[in-house]
Amino acid sequence: MWTLTFPPELITLLLRTSNLVALTGAGVSQESGLRTFRDAQDGLWKQYKPEDLASPQAFARDPKLVWDWYAWRREAVKAVRPNPGHYALVEIAKRVPNFTLITQNVDGLHQLAAQTLKVFETFRVLELHGNIQRVRCSECYTFTETWDDDTESVPRCEVCGGLLRPDVVWFGEALPRDQLEAAVEAARSCEVFFSIGTSGVVQPAASLAYAARNRGATLIEINAEPTPLTLKANYFFQGKSGEILPELVEAVWGA
Ligand code: APR
Repeated sequence: MWTLTFPPELITLLLRTSNLVALTGAGVSQESGLRTFRDAQDGLWKQYKPEDLASPQAFARDPKLVWDWYAWRREAVKAVRPNPGHYALVEIAKRVPNFTLITQNVDGLHQLAAQTLKVFETFRVLELHGNIQRVRCSECYTFTETWDDDTESVPRCEVCGGLLRPDVVWFGEALPRDQLEAAVEAARSCEVFFSIGTSGVVQPAASLAYAARNRGATLIEINAEPTPLTLKANYFFQGKSGEILPELVEAVWGA
């Protein structure tokens, strides 16, 4: 097992920072066994690209296909656990007074990691793209915890009869305003901004790192491969977030 060396000035900076933001993408969940958004799909779903399923047009065209894809993804998420990268971010949240986690992931693994470590109040998660564990009506927005999975068609809302759908942001849809506004505010006011496991190509999430950098924050990228953000980063650590983040927590906080 190789050991990363982190620049002493970075260790000093992280020890004294009081306002830190971490933006995460599908790469952080990859080591839990979940494919990244742009990984090829497998099994029945191999023939589809996520972009062709995660849109209002796809749902209008074939609601059952889209509903079944998300049902398959919900089961996939239930079968996995947070990985060391998720837990390392909770450990950072315990040590930095003002920590905000902004995620593009819809799997809820960040929250599960915090619950597992019994950390609640200091772990603020902004879900920019929603959460596939939540289901709501496509018409009246009523959320529901239960639905009839045995029907041949998509389950319907008990309040208005509309088709149920996952509470996620599809291509072409607006992000939840409260989450986005809080994310922009956090990015603009932080001292340190981590971009972790994201290809940094989807807006508006991808612009958050630049907003932080432009306000003078130190930008740290952890990713399996360089991205359009890499040239702007003060520090770039190439590799697996599930390996690098625990090493960083150990090097900085001795945890
Ligand atoms: N550790 C760190 N980085 C990793 C790892 C890992 N173990 N595995 C993969 N990566 C990197 C990949 O190199 C890639 O750059 O994670 C990134 C994942 O990028 P995408 O698959 O594009 O996922 P993401 O950036 O989260 O996509 C953003 O786009 O399609 C929408 O809503 C979707 O939330 C998604 C958003």
